[in-house]
Amino acid sequence: MSQFLSNCSVEALAAAARILKEGSLVAFPTETVYGLGADATNANAVGRIYEVKGRPADHPLIVHIADMKYLEQWITDIPEYAIALAREFWPGPMTLILQRSELAKDFITGGQNTVGIRIPANSLALGLLEAFHNLGGAGIAAPSANRFGQVSPTTADAVKEELDGFLVSTDLVLDGGASEVGLESTIIDCTCDLPRILRPGAITIEMIKKVTGFNISSSINKESVDAKQDDIRVSGSLENHYAPKARVFLDQKPVLGSGFIALSEIETPAGVVRLAAPKTIEEFARVLYSALREGDHHNLDSIYIAQPTGDGLSIAIRDRLSRSAKGR
Ligand code: TXA
Ligand code: MG
Repeated sequence: MSQFLSNCSVEALAAAARILKEGSLVAFPTETVYGLGADATNANAVGRIYEVKGRPADHPLIVHIADMKYLEQWITDIPEYAIALAREFWPGPMTLILQRSELAKDFITGGQNTVGIRIPANSLALGLLEAFHNLGGAGIAAPSANRFGQVSPTTADAVKEELDGFLVSTDLVLDGGASEVGLESTIIDCTCDLPRILRPGAITIEMIKKVTGFNISSSINKESVDAKQDDIRVSGSLENHYAPKARVFLDQKPVLGSGFIALSEIETPAGVVRLAAPKTIEEFARVLYSALREGDHHNLDSIYIAQPTGDGLSIAIRDRLSRSAKGR
């Protein structure tokens, strides 16, 4: 059982940073989903992340920093287009994969020569990171704060639901309300001549094209990801991920007694439990994971989802849904 904190004053964040420095875990909100944080330079602390999540040890973790000035120590090389992306979208829902420095050890990178870095756009996360840097910390490693393969938490209660029983009394969960974006960050591999999207998110392909000037297309990106599947381990790209306990069915006629998620313009079929009726694509992304959890709270056997069509954020939503539908 961990401590649970919803009063996140400057003093509270300083105390949380000390907890991290001492090698314990702190779960914290970001604008995408909640992360389970540890000192990214402490092998034992990072080892506990893997234990608590039940995650295979060779899956790399994202290092979170508060500011671009902390980037240099983690990497050896950064292409111009990655600098442009960082300037435009950080702090924000974007992770850049770059050539690692000595500081990024195998226990962070899964033995790869690259490291994933992100500056989150959430005042509480940034406050915690600043406090941690003030204590001499280099960065906070944080995967989504769920058990391996399950739905990422977008509230502190969901973190508790996922990890209670796995966290200990010296660990801490910070409550910063619901995550604004609701889907994990866009991951962009920046180790080649062109940026490649490894995981779609709220920073969309159109946004990346605009800032870098490269005419990358999603199909080119898909081929690159497939081609690199062997040497890049993106656990979020595993087929059966983001899965609730209920079976997920996409774009099919719901059976009686099942759960139903669709845009508000789509009417609720008779005899189903409406779990969410978002008005926009952004709201769809924001409420999706909590709606899946809600379905599990209702002990539903199945959840039917009418997927949003189109580009932009819809691509990320459909990416996660297709994996949810593969089950566990
Ligand atoms: O929005 C997010 O990215 C959240 C918040 C907490 O920041 N974090 C998150 O972490 O989703 P996680 O560990 O659940 O997913 C990160 C993904 C994993 O699939 C991991 O394999 C991939 O990033 N990743 C991390 N470092 C990588 C690297 N060096 N090369 C390729 N993929 C990497
Ligand atoms: Mg995850």
